[in-house]
Amino acid sequence: MSVARLIQSTLAVVLVSALSFSVVSLTAQEGHKPKPLTMEQKMMMKNKAMKNMDTYMASMDAMMKKLPMHLKETQDEAIKMGEKLFNDGKALSTNGQACASCHPGGGSTGGEAETPMASEATGKPYKLPIPTLVGAAATFPKYKVPNDAVVDLTDMQNNCIMMFMAAQPLDKGSVEARALTSYVASLSNDDKVSVGAMPEMMKKMMMGKK
Ligand code: HEC
Repeated sequence: MSVARLIQSTLAVVLVSALSFSVVSLTAQEGHKPKPLTMEQKMMMKNKAMKNMDTYMASMDAMMKKLPMHLKETQDEAIKMGEKLFNDGKALSTNGQACASCHPGGGSTGGEAETPMASEATGKPYKLPIPTLVGAAATFPKYKVPNDAVVDLTDMQNNCIMMFMAAQPLDKGSVEARALTSYVASLSNDDKVSVGAMPEMMKKMMMGKK
């Protein structure tokens, strides 16, 4: 940089700071004075802003009218409906089992559930420890061995319905699927969402630590 350029740019900085200083002191002295809108600005609001909002609200109205009934439910209503399904021994199963038979109150009986079919390798069914569902939703989606895929919470509920309740899986767009998932998800309120990291409990088990 030449000496001339250096002096020039230093001068510019000094000038700009002097200018902003005077502006600041000016506003500080006189304060902000609101001015009424001009006629042109008023017309612009009426012709544009109001029209935009009218168009938006009209399509909202039309959309709400077209929504199927079940999508108009609030989250609280969906959770309540889900809890009912969860505790019902007939609503989702053909063998009298409810979700609550194994996960009472959203928790666990502490026991094990036997797979209805035998393992091809051993000729015996698998016995799986029944997990609590409190905090479970915050660990989904996750990889599950029987699916050999990353599954979401609704898929996992369907695993239990097919495996332990001898019934067809729920259509994932159905009222039942959404209500049940809302309820099970509500058991994880305030939990940290895991994005594939190892849960603390498993880490402790694997590291042999307490
Ligand atoms: C006969 C007992 C039984 C019934 C009935 C049952 N489950 Fe399960 N559930 C289990 C077992 C065992 C597991 C562990 C399976 C696994 O890890 O693959 C499990 C796992 C789950 C999980 C995953 C938990 C986690 O932390 O990964 C969810 C969610 C779940 N069940 C929801 C339900 C819902 C909802 C219902 C009713 C539609 C239901 N279960 C019915 C036994 C049951």
